[in-house]
Amino acid sequence: MIPLAKTGGLGDVCGSLPVALEQCGCRCSAFLPAYRSVMRSGLRIEPTPHTFTIPIGGRHVACRILHTQLPNSSVDVYLIDQPQYYDRDGLYHDRHGEYRDNCERFSFFCRAVIQAIEQLNLDVDIIHCHDWQAGLVPAYVETKLGGFRWMDRVRSVMTIHNLAYQGRFWHVDMPLTGLDWQYFNFHQMEFHGELNLMKTGIAFANTVTTVSPTYAREITLPEFGCGLEASLKARGDQLVGIVNGVDYAQWNPKTDQHLPANYSVDDWQVGKAQCKHALQQELGLEVDPALPLIGIVSRLADQKGWDLIIPLLEHWVTSRDVQWAILGTGAPHYEAQLRQLAQQAPHRLALRLEFSEQAAHRIEAACDMFLMPSRYEPCGLNQLYSLKYGSVPVVHTTGGLADTVRDASPANLLNKSATGFRFDDYSLVGLERAVNKAVDSYLHNQPQWAQIVETGMRDDWSWEQSAKRYMEIFDRTLHREYSSG
Ligand code: ADP
Ligand code: GLC
Repeated sequence: MIPLAKTGGLGDVCGSLPVALEQCGCRCSAFLPAYRSVMRSGLRIEPTPHTFTIPIGGRHVACRILHTQLPNSSVDVYLIDQPQYYDRDGLYHDRHGEYRDNCERFSFFCRAVIQAIEQLNLDVDIIHCHDWQAGLVPAYVETKLGGFRWMDRVRSVMTIHNLAYQGRFWHVDMPLTGLDWQYFNFHQMEFHGELNLMKTGIAFANTVTTVSPTYAREITLPEFGCGLEASLKARGDQLVGIVNGVDYAQWNPKTDQHLPANYSVDDWQVGKAQCKHALQQELGLEVDPALPLIGIVSRLADQKGWDLIIPLLEHWVTSRDVQWAILGTGAPHYEAQLRQLAQQAPHRLALRLEFSEQAAHRIEAACDMFLMPSRYEPCGLNQLYSLKYGSVPVVHTTGGLADTVRDASPANLLNKSATGFRFDDYSLVGLERAVNKAVDSYLHNQPQWAQIVETGMRDDWSWEQSAKRYMEIFDRTLHREYSSG
C-alpha cells in the first residue's frame, strides 16, 4: 500500500484504489500489518486505545492497533502492530527465503483484522481482501469466528492479484488459523494435502475478482489456473475481472518530480529527448538520440519472461545498435546472467539491480520502447505507465497486457488505434519478431511511430472507471442472496 509498503503492483493498487473508491462515495478503511517500512514511511502514525491478544500457536499474542491516513484522502489505515511478526527487513521474505512463520504471521493478521473491526465499531458492508495474505478473512466471516453480530450482514470480496502466490503451508499449520479441521477439505482449505490460503479466500468469499477480464478467463484453464482452475470455474459469474487503474498523480510525465524534463502528448518529442539524454549519461550508455532505447522495470521472476529476454539480450547486445536500460531485483540466477551481459556490453546494456522508485520513473520517461514479455500477467501496471509516458510497450498477448495494449496490426494502424506491439506465441521467435517490428517502426517510419506513441499517451487508464466497476460488484455482492455456511 503505497506510500506505506510496496514490493510490486499490489502496493500501487492498494494505495490508489481506496482513494478512488472514496471519490465514488464509498467510505473506506484499510488494514495493513505495521511492517517496518510502514513505521519508517515518515507518515504520522498514532496509537489508538485498542489493544488485545490473539490466541495463536498455544500462546496469547498481543496486538496494538495504530492509525494513519492515506495522504490526500480521508481513508483511515489501521495498522496491525506486532513487532515480533512485522518489524523485519522484508514483507514476506528476506535474502534467506520465505519467512518460515508466514502462516502464523498472516493468520494473526486476519484474526486481528476481525477483532479490530469489532473494537473500532466500524460499520462495514464489504470486506475487500487482497491475495492470500488476507485469504482467511472471508472464511472467518462465513464461519462467524468470534460470533460478532456484524458478521450476519457483512459480505466479502476476494481479489486475486497473482495466482502463482497461494500461501501454501503444511497441514500441521491448520490450528494456527483458529478454524475447525472440518474446513480442511478439498472444496475449502485443503490443496494436495496442504493448507492453501488463496484457495480458502476463493472458496469462502461471496465474490472473487481478479485484475483483468482476460486473466479472469485464463485462470479457469489448467495452463494458468495453478491447480485452482476447478475452484475458480466453480465460481461461475461470481468470478469477475476488473482492470487496474493508474494513479496519474504519481505517474504523469507532465508533473513527475523525478524527471529532468516534463512533457505531455503535445511536446513529447522534446521532453522525452531530454529525459533520454539524461538517462544515457546517468547510466553510462553512449549518448546518442538516434539509438533505440528499450526499458525494462520488472521483478526478476519467471513470470516476467526473463527466459526469453536473456537469450534475446545475449544475441542483441553484441549484434544490434539498440540500447537497454534494465531495473529489477529478484532471482539470483537472473541477476548473475544480467550482470554478465552488462559487463560484456556496458555501452549497450545498463543494469541497476535495486528497487528504486526514482529510477523506475526515469526509465519509463527516457526509453523509446518498454519491454514486458510476461509469460502470464494478471494485469501489469508498467505497460500502463509506459503508455502514459510515450514509451511504446512491446508485450506478450496475455492477461492484462492483452486487455490494455492494442497491437500495431495493419487494421489497428489503419484506424489509428494501435498503442504497442504484441506477440501471441510465447517464444523467442515471437518476441524477437515483435521487438524487430517496433525497432523498425521507430527507425524507419516516424509518422507511424508518432501515431502509436500519441494514441497510447491519450489512452485513459485512470482509476475512475475501474473504481466504478468495483462499486457495481460490491453492490451486486451485497444484494445477492447467499446460502450461508
Ligand atoms: P508485479 O506486481 O507483478 O511486479 P506490476 O506491473 O503490476 O507487476 O507492478 C510492478 C510495480 O513495481 C510497478 O509500480 C513498478 O514500477 C514497480 N517495480 C518493479 N520492480 C521495481 C524496481 N526494481 N524498482 C522500482 N520499482 C519497481
Ligand atoms: C500482481 C500481478 C500484476 C498486477 C499486480 C497488481 O503483482 O503480477 O500483474 O498488476 O498484482 O494487481
